[in-house]
Amino acid sequence: QKDGYPHYMIKEIHEQPRALADTINPRVKDLLPNFEDDNIPDSLFEGVHDITVIACGTAMYAGNVGRTLIQNKFGIPVTVAIASEFRYERPTIDENTLVIVVSQSGETIDTLEALRLAKKYTQRTLAIVNVKGSTIARESGHVLYTHAGPEIAVASTKAYSVQVAAMYLVGCKLGLVTGKASESEIREFISGLKNVPSMIEEVLKLEEKISVQANRMVNAEDAFFIGRGLDYTLSMEGALKLKEISYIHAEAYAAGELKHGTISLITEGTPVIAIATQQSVYSKVVSNIREVKARGAYVILISKDKEITDNTVCDVHVSIPEVIDELSVFESVVVLQILAYYTSVGKGNDPDQPRNLAKSVTVE
Ligand code: F6R
Repeated sequence: QKDGYPHYMIKEIHEQPRALADTINPRVKDLLPNFEDDNIPDSLFEGVHDITVIACGTAMYAGNVGRTLIQNKFGIPVTVAIASEFRYERPTIDENTLVIVVSQSGETIDTLEALRLAKKYTQRTLAIVNVKGSTIARESGHVLYTHAGPEIAVASTKAYSVQVAAMYLVGCKLGLVTGKASESEIREFISGLKNVPSMIEEVLKLEEKISVQANRMVNAEDAFFIGRGLDYTLSMEGALKLKEISYIHAEAYAAGELKHGTISLITEGTPVIAIATQQSVYSKVVSNIREVKARGAYVILISKDKEITDNTVCDVHVSIPEVIDELSVFESVVVLQILAYYTSVGKGNDPDQPRNLAKSVTVE
């Protein structure tokens, strides 16, 4: 069942190119998003003036990536809500809000209850779900299935990537239907998106190099993940992945926010995983990295630079393939997943069955 891999998690990490191709390709016709086979009509998106994404954990972090893309590329306001909070807050959604719930299992009780609440305010509900016929899929107005296949490891990997891809496709559809983006703009973006599976194949070749870095992490008590923009959203997922399977305390920070308090936690040797793939904020992230480096941090930098030799910037550089900024998340997350996996294994943990966690959370 594990196809020769020692754990499901690493098997599932390697399945991402296939999972992404299966999720993206059937929804693309003539390089434009097409949801006809999913029975999702354009009317779902017509007149949408804002979006609320509701989810938990990794699924919520995938929503965060989608939020950043949709808001920055198409100018449509997006709120991402933690399902267990949304349920008890006063909803500010109405008929013109598109509610997107994201869930691998389709059974997470807080996400399900949040969907039920949202349906009292808007008929525009769309579930991005992996498990066919699950409760959330059945109760949502519309469903866009991700085709990751069964995810066995407790820590989500391939399900995250396909959720991000689904959010991007929905964003493109919204951009077109609401007139915020032109067909040619979307075609260009989607031709890049279709290339993502082969880019990930390239990143998977870095597995050994990344596993060596994991050896450096196993004795750490704390780790920090920093970035700006899309890279910040990714930091949250990277920190969660490390925490849940390696039991190392990890925090994600918007790189520019560290100096407002948290930088006092950086001491000699503290691992900082910095992600710097976004051109518009690249130099800002680099100066934030120098700030932590000057305080003794051990910096692992993920960027699209071919090479970085300046050791005042980082201790180790992981170079990911060149791609447009919005798509680099798919590459960087694979690095973060591999790093978390080998750190867990290096500590003698079972990455597939982390303590205290269940695959599907059906308690409130
Ligand atoms: C972390 C992880 C969890 C789930 C969360 C939501 O690796 O898997 O954070 O993402 O419990 O689960 P679903 O997506 O099934 O609603």
